[in-house]
Amino acid sequence: MGMLDHWQPIAPVAALKNKQLLATEVAGKAIVLFRNSQGRIGALDDTCPHRRLKLSAGTVVGDKLQCRYHGWTFDCEGQGESPGTPKLHACAGHYSVCEAQNYIWLKSRDSNPKFPEFNTEGFTFMCHLQHESPAPLELTVDNFCEIEHTPTTHAIFGYQLERMKEVQVRFETDDNRVRVINTGPPKKLGTILNWMIGIRNNYIFNDDWTTYFSPVYSIYEHFWSDPITGEEAKIRWRLWIFFVPSNDYKTKVITFAYAKSKYPGPNGCLLPFRGLMRKKLDKEIQLDIDILSKFADFNPDIEGMKLSRFDRVLGLNRERIARIYRGISADQSTLSISKPSLRLAK
Ligand code: FES
Ligand SMILES: [Fe+2]
Repeated sequence: MGMLDHWQPIAPVAALKNKQLLATEVAGKAIVLFRNSQGRIGALDDTCPHRRLKLSAGTVVGDKLQCRYHGWTFDCEGQGESPGTPKLHACAGHYSVCEAQNYIWLKSRDSNPKFPEFNTEGFTFMCHLQHESPAPLELTVDNFCEIEHTPTTHAIFGYQLERMKEVQVRFETDDNRVRVINTGPPKKLGTILNWMIGIRNNYIFNDDWTTYFSPVYSIYEHFWSDPITGEEAKIRWRLWIFFVPSNDYKTKVITFAYAKSKYPGPNGCLLPFRGLMRKKLDKEIQLDIDILSKFADFNPDIEGMKLSRFDRVLGLNRERIARIYRGISADQSTLSISKPSLRLAK
């Protein structure tokens, strides 16, 4: 499988209203999405097969996308017609699309991957967020798969620097997944958040996540608990974070946030707090994005890095990203970004 052969989230459904176009880039491929007059979404290579104008410069006319240069039209399957040469057959490259979780998802036409599983039973949808990391896929995933950066990078998320040595980390792996479980003394959230979430003084913070590679995403379980009795605070959340490379240098970070509450009432009284959670989560992810812009070297190879006990996951993830997501051998996966053409989608 190649990088486009997995169902990947691309943009919120709301970003593509009737008769609108949306230009995007996935795995180095320029793609245009459009919604036709029947409400169907088409996803085509953003290059007109005639004389290569960007199709995203065109307009939607009825159920087709019309190229702005000479007026050729293309349907959702990429089948094209030329007004001036009606017998000419033209075809633009096209992709499979679907809508789920209020998002538009895309994959190559001929692949048959499993759609990512959303086990949300007992949880309430809180928000989705989209950020763009200014770093390659592997460096972006590294950041979201270790917690050693949380004391110094984050505002309220993660662990305390002076007690970092108490934080425990465990790994569980199989061929297709990498699970990381961290427990330790949490960062101070402040009196109001502590009270709302129900965190007591002696509680530890549990950050337990599993990363999958078709496509590349992690499911995070965040909760606070008593280290002796195991009793939990009143609220926990579960985040799905997808890492979708735009190209070798930028990665979309797309988050779906759900929460669960023990408070009585509909949805555990969580609905009024959607805005607050969105704001806090956005800030914490933005702090990750900021730190990701500050590498001295954007080469994703781990060769030459001095790794800590929290970093074992970097190698485990890279092996699976190369094999499952990129569909390339271990040898090729060590190529640096100085050879981007060899790393892009097949
Ligand atoms: S370049 Fe698109 S119709 Fe000519
Ligand atoms: Fe982070």
